[in-house]
Amino acid sequence: MTAIGEPLVRRDGTRKVTGTATYAYETPAGTPVFCHPVQATVARGRIAAIHTAEAEVLDGVLDVITYRSAERLASTADAELAVLQDREVAFRGQVIGLVVAETSEVARHGAELVFATYDEREHDTELSADRDDLYKPEKVNPAFPTDTAAGDVDAAMASADVTVEQTYRTAMYHNNPLEPHATTALWDNDVLTLWDSTQGVHPSRKAIAKVFGLPEERVRVVCPYVGGGFGSKGLPHANVALAAMAARAHPGRPVKLALTRQQMFSLAGYRTPTIQKMRLGATRDGRLTAIGLDVVEQTSRIKEFAEQTALPSRMMYAAPNRRTTHRLAALDVPVPSWMRAPGECPGMFGPEVAMDELAYELGIDPVELRIRNEPEVDPESGNPFSSRHLVDCLREGARRFGWDSRDPHPGVRLEDGWLVGTGVAASVYPSSTRPGSTAVVRFEGGRYAVEIGAADLGTGAWTVLPQIAAEALEVPVEEIDMRLGDTAYPEAAVAGGSAGTATWGSAVFEAARTLRDKYGRDPADGAEADATTGDNPARKEYAMYAFGAQFAEARVHADTGEIRVPRLLGVFAAGRIVNRRTARSQFLGGMTMGLSMALHEESVWDPRFGQVVNHDLAEYHIAVNADVDDVQAHWLDERDPHVNPLGVKGIGEIGIVGTAAAVANAVFHATGARIRDLPITLDKVL
Ligand code: MOS
Repeated sequence: MTAIGEPLVRRDGTRKVTGTATYAYETPAGTPVFCHPVQATVARGRIAAIHTAEAEVLDGVLDVITYRSAERLASTADAELAVLQDREVAFRGQVIGLVVAETSEVARHGAELVFATYDEREHDTELSADRDDLYKPEKVNPAFPTDTAAGDVDAAMASADVTVEQTYRTAMYHNNPLEPHATTALWDNDVLTLWDSTQGVHPSRKAIAKVFGLPEERVRVVCPYVGGGFGSKGLPHANVALAAMAARAHPGRPVKLALTRQQMFSLAGYRTPTIQKMRLGATRDGRLTAIGLDVVEQTSRIKEFAEQTALPSRMMYAAPNRRTTHRLAALDVPVPSWMRAPGECPGMFGPEVAMDELAYELGIDPVELRIRNEPEVDPESGNPFSSRHLVDCLREGARRFGWDSRDPHPGVRLEDGWLVGTGVAASVYPSSTRPGSTAVVRFEGGRYAVEIGAADLGTGAWTVLPQIAAEALEVPVEEIDMRLGDTAYPEAAVAGGSAGTATWGSAVFEAARTLRDKYGRDPADGAEADATTGDNPARKEYAMYAFGAQFAEARVHADTGEIRVPRLLGVFAAGRIVNRRTARSQFLGGMTMGLSMALHEESVWDPRFGQVVNHDLAEYHIAVNADVDDVQAHWLDERDPHVNPLGVKGIGEIGIVGTAAAVANAVFHATGARIRDLPITLDKVL
């Protein structure tokens, strides 16, 4: 059997593209009512009065819930989920009311008729590195040390042959999955059912049960299909709590709540802007002696999220002197959260552009400079890497991309009015297999069924988990039915941290193996086995990461500054690849999102009002087909016996890591203009 590795098409693919997949908002569940949130129009203050009468008399409006009428929640520990509990306004766009009506149009009209006055306070929403109120968070996401130090970076910088000291900035970014955050909620017979667009039915159930003080068995979360999430659906946001609250206020009626695209810009998380003060010191022959990175970023005043931006600088290259710090400003802004490769994605921009700057200072090829600084062991822990094939990725990428014929001089290749250049950057993402996920494999009616409370956010879980089961059972993959996306199935970890396939797949593989070992090739009807992922003891002995190398070609118009990226090529070493088709899609998707980050995406913040001004897809630019030309993803056949028995490392996020730096480095090679602030727009290169 060779089910693993086969490029099977996605089992949910046809349903999704033909419109027959039932998304959360579309769940048929009786005669629904519809909700529309009312949002605060000041960035900081207190509601003085809220006028709901006009909305309440509107034909079709059933209810206007405000802090006056909302149920008192059992737990307000998570300030993002503690909706409508008091008069305080912590950011513009925070929910201050919820209109429930017979149609979505009436709900929306009603929401427009709700009017609040405020005791407004001066707001403060502007991130800068010289604020005097920056603070040191206890940990950075999810539980890493905030600061690290080894040796003496200051002394090493003072005595280095060559140094680079620069400040880099990544923009604020908003996740924009095609399907907005949406829920159908039903409170019936003291059970709350949420059909919710989520990356984790079990984590979502836990969070919501806590907020409402319900035992977990009285909350069910169902989510067979998700139209993208990228991290923004990894944890429930305010919209889910609102839908649940409205359902409890209207028992027996399914309640529907979908955020509008504009509401997603204040209510569904975002990637904090980062300011990265980077220091590199090196010997003349290109050995790093010092790596320093001091990161400044923002969080909201009501709930802390500390993006782990400096993490990759701790382990990427060998240097005896290293120092990383994170400092936060707590501002009157919406709550930041996960976005594809939190930490690694912004955290490989500054450092990988700095490596390019260092390569130019030294007159050493940027591929070679990285190879010269390959560490023997994880610089942070001193442990060996379970597998590390960064050098092979760089060499293979250079070969495929045609790097060797590159003339390093910047700004000298003019073709038909376009300046042409190429750039490289490294890529990394940690590999993890989460403990506590359970799968059940059962033989029934002549077929096998796999059940696990996982979520497929569009990444391929519907398809790859049966491949893994087929391999373990030694049966054709067509004989396996997959069941996921429901808390009725066993507990499983969130689809996040690129750990889905490694985690759920490990449980599925072991359960299937157990069934096969116990009952042989011909099990009795109803025979079943389960398995739960445990702690991997090898994690204490090895550093576990996937690596990659990203190559980009940039063309910048000499007169207009228009920037095009005709070629992107990535080579990854990411463990065993379970499905060549879905894996390639993940790499390409990540790289495309990285291209989008490099050239297009930016949530433009207006500190006067404390809001994102380009809060729609007309003005928040995401790379479209015309922006994406030749994107290639390749990978090495990597066997890692330590990460988990399957050898799966995780691939959902590494594609975005390093891409923006490769593009920035290519733009420098094309033009001679070193752009240190994302996105790279034409005004910056001219
Ligand atoms: Mo990813 S940001 O861990 O969904």
